[in-house]
Amino acid sequence: MQLVNYAAWIPSEKARLEVGTSPFPTHVAADEIVIKNHAVAVNPVDWKIQVSGGFGLRYPYILGDDVAGEVVEVGAAVKAAGTFKPGDRVIAHALGLGANNPQYGGFQLYPKLKIVTAAKIPDDIPPWNAVVLPLSVSTAAAGLYLKTNLGLKLPSVKTSTSSDIDIDSKPPPTLLLWGGSSSVGSSVIQLAVASGYRVIATASPSNYGYVKALGAALVLDYHNPDIETLLIAVLRAEGSGPLAGAYDAIGSEATVSVSARIVHALGGGRVTSVISIPSQPPHDVTTTRISSAAIVTQEEGRVARKVWGEFVPAALRTGVLKPRPDELIVGRGLYFVQAGLDKQREGVSARKVVVTL
Ligand SMILES: NC(=O)c1ccc[n+]([C@@H]2O[C@H](COP(=O)([O-])OP(=O)(O)OC[C@H]3O[C@@H](n4cnc5c(N)ncnc54)[C@H](OP(=O)(O)O)[C@@H]3O)[C@@H](O)[C@H]2O)c1
Repeated sequence: MQLVNYAAWIPSEKARLEVGTSPFPTHVAADEIVIKNHAVAVNPVDWKIQVSGGFGLRYPYILGDDVAGEVVEVGAAVKAAGTFKPGDRVIAHALGLGANNPQYGGFQLYPKLKIVTAAKIPDDIPPWNAVVLPLSVSTAAAGLYLKTNLGLKLPSVKTSTSSDIDIDSKPPPTLLLWGGSSSVGSSVIQLAVASGYRVIATASPSNYGYVKALGAALVLDYHNPDIETLLIAVLRAEGSGPLAGAYDAIGSEATVSVSARIVHALGGGRVTSVISIPSQPPHDVTTTRISSAAIVTQEEGRVARKVWGEFVPAALRTGVLKPRPDELIVGRGLYFVQAGLDKQREGVSARKVVVTL
């Protein structure tokens, strides 16, 4: 029996989404799977494309990066290796934006996915919760681990125990994170802590508890007019450890520039940002712009294999990685995806917009 597929299509540049039938994915490659989608999450890029176009898309197209569901078909190599099988519950970062093929878009009932950015999820985590993670995990990993960005140590699920603590040991290196309560920032904290770094983040005071619970050592209010001076003092203070770099998870000209000035004040180093590069960075600061898909395309996929292939499934099982921020479900069914884009565009605070299917 041929299954019927439906998608929330963007029919033409800058148009509103429309639900319609979509071909069931064909030509499933050796390293691919097809899932029955149970939940999708919405990211800023979805409404930004709807507002401004870009990404060289050929319309009609299917947007959407974050999916969670059940495997219904596997490619030949996946079947031979037994990495995924029909019935497995998974999350994935759908790689539709670079593919120029709508079969890889997330906002459909049966997306086709590369297993390099997919992971099994434990039975006790529902799809509408797990789906908050994929794009943010890829984006966090790209900024933290690619050698062209911060080039930090890869994460491990091993958590520290009292026998690991050495009273003579030096404090761990510190990561400055701008935007700790954002979706990307939430994954940056969890990955960086699992890599052995101390994280100092910015957020609104209402989210201090949230950001600390994710593992940040200290959270400061980015609205404070003295935030730059304060962060420099804190990072210079004894016990902070050397600066590992700065991750700008907000990506405005202002947030990347202040991050770069702080790194300069600490003696120089690297800043990586989700969007912007400062027009005139200090001479001793290297700034890079993150591409989440680069974890697959750069360094022969080393970062994707480690993070998606090993860390994410093990860390979800052990609780080292939690699906955060909590989901904000705006409705059930593909007709609600446009409402999801509208809601994300209005702005969220420590929440991820989700549509169940
Ligand atoms: N390059 C890539 O591959 C890539 C991938 C994914 C996302 N992105 C981009 O990354 C950005 C973040 O995406 P997201 O999904 O994480 O966003 P989000 O969760 O929607 O961001 C909302 C959060 O941003 C925080 N925030 C807003 N302005 C801030 C500021 N000036 N300083 C510190 N925090 C601030 C808010 O914190 P409070 O509520 O605590 O104030 C809020 O919790 C977007 O621009 C997105 O397009 C890029």
